[in-house]
Order: sequence, then C-alpha cells, then structure tokens
Amino acid sequence: MIAVIGLGPMGRAMTSALLAKGHAVTAWNRTPGKAPAGATVAESAADAVQAADLVLVSLTDHGAMFDALAGARLVSKTVANLGSDTPVRTREAAAWVEARGGRFLAGGVMVPAPVVGTEASFVLYSGSRGVFEAHTEALRAIGDPRYVGEDPGLSQLLYQAYLDVFLTALSGVLHGAALAESGGVRASTFLREARGIVQLVDSILSDPQLARRIEGGGHADALASTRMMGATAAHVLSASQEAGIDLELPRAIESHYARALAAGHANDGWTSLIEILRR
Ligand SMILES: NC(=O)c1ccc[n+]([C@@H]2O[C@H](COP(=O)([O-])OP(=O)(O)OC[C@H]3O[C@@H](n4cnc5c(N)ncnc54)[C@H](OP(=O)(O)O)[C@@H]3O)[C@@H](O)[C@H]2O)c1
Repeated sequence: MIAVIGLGPMGRAMTSALLAKGHAVTAWNRTPGKAPAGATVAESAADAVQAADLVLVSLTDHGAMFDALAGARLVSKTVANLGSDTPVRTREAAAWVEARGGRFLAGGVMVPAPVVGTEASFVLYSGSRGVFEAHTEALRAIGDPRYVGEDPGLSQLLYQAYLDVFLTALSGVLHGAALAESGGVRASTFLREARGIVQLVDSILSDPQLARRIEGGGHADALASTRMMGATAAHVLSASQEAGIDLELPRAIESHYARALAAGHANDGWTSLIEILRR
C-alpha cells in the first residue's frame, strides 16, 4: 500500500498514475473530497501513513509536511517528499523524518501534473541510495526515477535550478508579449515568432561549447560578444521604458551585462556573465 499525502493537482495526478499501474493507494488531503476514484480515502494523515510502507508527500512546501504529519507514526516508514522547497529546508525535512524513526527521500517532479505517469515523466531523487533502490519500482509509476545523490537537498537544488530556467523563460515570454502589445501586436502573432527564439535557445544549449565555456574553458566567442549583447540588453530596457511597461526583468538582465562589461569582459562572449552570476 502506498500513501499519498496532499491531493492538489500533483498529488491527484500521482494517485491516478499509481492506481493505473495497479498499486493500492490510500490518500489524504486537508480539505476532503479531492481523492481520485479508486483510492482509499484516509480519515487522517496518520491513518494514511499507518496503512502504508511508502508515503508520498505532495504539498505546497515542507512546512506543510510538518503540519500534516505531526501526529503520524513514522517508524520504519519511507517518506518521499516530492514537493518543492529549498535544499536547506529539505535537509531539515530529512532530519525531522529520521528523528521520528522514518526514512526520507527527496524528489523533484520535473513535469507538469498532466504528464505524470506518462513516458515523458521523470523525477529527480536524492537521499539514501538504499532507500531509493528499495522503492524504485513503485516510484516508476509516476515517472522515470533518476537518482542524483546522497545529499537529500541535491534533488531540490536541481529542481530549483531547472525551475529558475523555466520561470525566467516564462516571464521573458510574457514581458516580450507586453512589449509587442504596446505596439499593437497581438499575442497570437508574437508567440508564433517567439517559438523560433525558444528553438534558438535550445540549439545554443545543445552546443557542447556552451558547457565547456561555463565550466571554465574561457569565453572566446567572435559571434556574440558581451559588448554587442550588452548594447542589446540596454535597448530592450530602453524600449520597455518607452512602452511604459514593467522594467524589473530587463533591468536585471541589463545589470548582468553592465557588470560583466565593467569587469573587463567586453570582448569575451556572453557566457562571461557566469562570472558575475557566480559571485
Ligand atoms: N502542479 C504541477 O504541475 C507541479 C509540477 C511539479 C512540481 N509540483 C510541486 O508539487 C507540489 C504540489 O503541487 P500542487 O500542484 O498539487 O499544488 P499546491 O498548491 O502546491 O499544493 C496543494 C496541496 O498542499 C496542501 N497543503 C498546503 N498547505 C498545507 C498545510 N499546512 N497542511 C496540509 N496540507 C497543506 C493543500 O491542501 P488543501 O487542498 O487542503 O488546500 C493541497 O493538497 C508543490 O510543491 C509543487 O511545487 C507541482
């Protein structure tokens, strides 16, 4: 029996995926009435934990886990927390579970709820390798389980790093749409061309030179200098000022280039910004 604690969109998707793969699931949510058909509904989180060996936690953050599992007996249970939080909070969550006699795994679900349980789904896990291996087959039901290391905070560090890319990209798309809209261009038109820009980013990421440069291989790049890209970043900021739209995002990006230029990287490629971002 697997327990699922938390039935937001993600917890419900995990429950449905587990049921579809033939697992018995007992589910609990603070607000009742959210369990997918086929799950056993537990009266309390403590009851759900008692009925299961593996407890999947899918809550807003780890503070919510402390609330939800405060009265649960965790001795000999494996608690896999697949919710989002910082690496430090994740290590605290591991210590909290282990102090109560349980075993802890941290996980970051790298796909949106509708993709959970499909071939495209994958989840990053960290914590004890032995605990991970004991539950790999059950965990496979929600997505390909990928173990990243013993430090429980590592999967959340990576989760937040990927979400850093994702959230910044989404804000960039909306900011660009607002800039285009200020000139009367509809989102439907803007987004059509923006997809080409996203593909360009994808091709830059696919170039092995990018990793080499970030890993310390130098920033020589005759085609995309920090001077040229920095001038463009300043133009994006000025155009946003002219349009009267929000300036926080272009200000941040212009500041990366301005500081890289001040540090002497004008003739280096744009990857020189990593020296500023690392601090
Ligand atoms: N949705 C996605 O596509 C997605 C993708 C990847 C990762 N994630 C991560 O998965 C986790 C769950 O996401 P979600 O989309 O299901 O929605 P969510 O809004 O982050 O989580 C909602 C769940 O948390 C519960 N909750 C919040 N505070 C609580 C507390 N103090 N005590 C008990 N329960 C509490 C809610 O209970 P009530 O129903 O009673 O409010 C609900 O079950 C998050 O950490 C999210 O970042 C989500």
